Amino acid sequence: MTITVIHPNVLAGEAPALLPVAPASADHLDKQHELGQFLTPQPVAEFMASLFDIHRDEVRLLDAGAGAGALSAALVGRWCRVPRKPKRVSVTACEIDPAQIVPLRARLDSCRRECERAGISFSATVLNEDFIAAAVPMVRGDLFALPAPCFNTAILNPPYRKIRSDSSTRLLLRSAGIETSNLYAGFVALVTRLLERGGELVAITPRSFCNGPYFQPFRRDFLKTMSLRRLHVFESRSAACSGDAVLQENIIFHAVKGAPRPERVVVSSSSGAPGGVVTERTVDFHEIVSPDDTEQFIHLPADDRHEQARRAMQRLSTSLLELGLSVSTGRVVDFRAKEFLREQPGLDTAPLIYPCHFNGGFVHWPKEKTRKPNAIVSNEQTRELLVPAGVYVLVKRFTAKEERRRVVACVYDPRQIPAPLVGFENHLNYFQVNGHGLPMTLAKGLAAFLNSTIVDVYFRQFNGHTQVNATDLRSLNYPAKAELEALGRKVSDPGMPQEELDALVEKELF
Ligand SMILES: C[S@@+](CC[C@H](N)C(=O)[O-])C[C@H]1O[C@@H](n2cnc3c(N)ncnc32)[C@H](O)[C@@H]1O
Repeated sequence: MTITVIHPNVLAGEAPALLPVAPASADHLDKQHELGQFLTPQPVAEFMASLFDIHRDEVRLLDAGAGAGALSAALVGRWCRVPRKPKRVSVTACEIDPAQIVPLRARLDSCRRECERAGISFSATVLNEDFIAAAVPMVRGDLFALPAPCFNTAILNPPYRKIRSDSSTRLLLRSAGIETSNLYAGFVALVTRLLERGGELVAITPRSFCNGPYFQPFRRDFLKTMSLRRLHVFESRSAACSGDAVLQENIIFHAVKGAPRPERVVVSSSSGAPGGVVTERTVDFHEIVSPDDTEQFIHLPADDRHEQARRAMQRLSTSLLELGLSVSTGRVVDFRAKEFLREQPGLDTAPLIYPCHFNGGFVHWPKEKTRKPNAIVSNEQTRELLVPAGVYVLVKRFTAKEERRRVVACVYDPRQIPAPLVGFENHLNYFQVNGHGLPMTLAKGLAAFLNSTIVDVYFRQFNGHTQVNATDLRSLNYPAKAELEALGRKVSDPGMPQEELDALVEKELF
């Protein structure tokens, strides 16, 4: 059941989910990007503060990547207002950017005054340090490191930035048993280790950790250590953010360390638009993380449509492997093969297929007016990049949530494109049978299934970024082969109008 809750004062005037520090010079933007500086607007900080639900007489709060202290201040503000107040609050705020330290201290000073008025004893420690470098030795228990402080509360909007595989940050994290390619996941993993049993964490992070192969170790570690209680997703991405942050949907989660896995989790969503209507539903934990899912994807069934799509997809029980199919990512990375790319086909070339060649349910090639090359030289050096001609189902690898569909599939038909070999560019995934094509009927049925609204709605629950990974496609349940073939016989074009396609898919498969 979906309950629509309007939280007064919470998330009112919510947009955007995250704010760039301040519009400024190119240097400033570089620093903002380098430090992942997107500050939490007050309504969002207050909403996050409202999610803590364990009373403690003594609160030991950690705010890692504290910026100007918006999150700590929101939480302290809440404690000062509630009838049952903590007796003592100590805040440890860690922030690497010296420019944030003065406003951070000022914010914590005003927290002190507020606590004094409310009769709460308050202390604060500001660390102008790299949180990773400071926390890793404690977590590792190094001989000369300070003993890990025991926090019972943590609030977090960590920096979002990729960490290179050879960087010192990556190696530091690895030395503490944390394997991740993004700083935000490293922050969360460290914070969970610094929390005592029963400690609560509320964080706002990109949604990308919910699926995808890169975050699998992080998901496993997180779900093993923390008991998820609440997930909140913002339906729209902020127009005010730029760069990577805007490509990401943000999620807020509340979790408790070491507590038993909950039976039910509250999943909520809000548009991000002013007004702040929050739609809430309570769902079984196994709807969030399926017990049979080795990848441990985190699903966000935020409304009834998601729920229906999830139930429908659960009724399908065939894996890709059982269908005898596999899915791969296009082997031609165009910027690495520049010297072999050709605008138009020639005698020595093979077709090179990009998403721009999708036209309805089939590939149309070559394209006259396109900035993308239509062909790749076919020789010894490129042979490994090409696949033998055949019927392949292609799926775009990058689609935004604002697009009509996140999963966009199309059939490569070699009868329309006579060539012995073909190159699929890296912005595509392709379904294949042992390196070769599929029977046409199966391919049409599969493409139609993938293009259906049910698959799309289901997909959006666990994938909130722009990539459609091969792992995501592997993780889906599929109809049986005979069902896909029956669908394929009815479909003339898997790019047919959506309503017609959905009606057909529903009739044949569900
Ligand atoms: C996304 S901002 C959030 C700031 C603040 N928590 C808020 O919610 O408004 C992340 C903050 O982490 C800081 N930061 C980035 N790398 C850091 C590091 N290695 N150690 C500590 N702080 C870091 C950035 O300077 C930035 O202020």
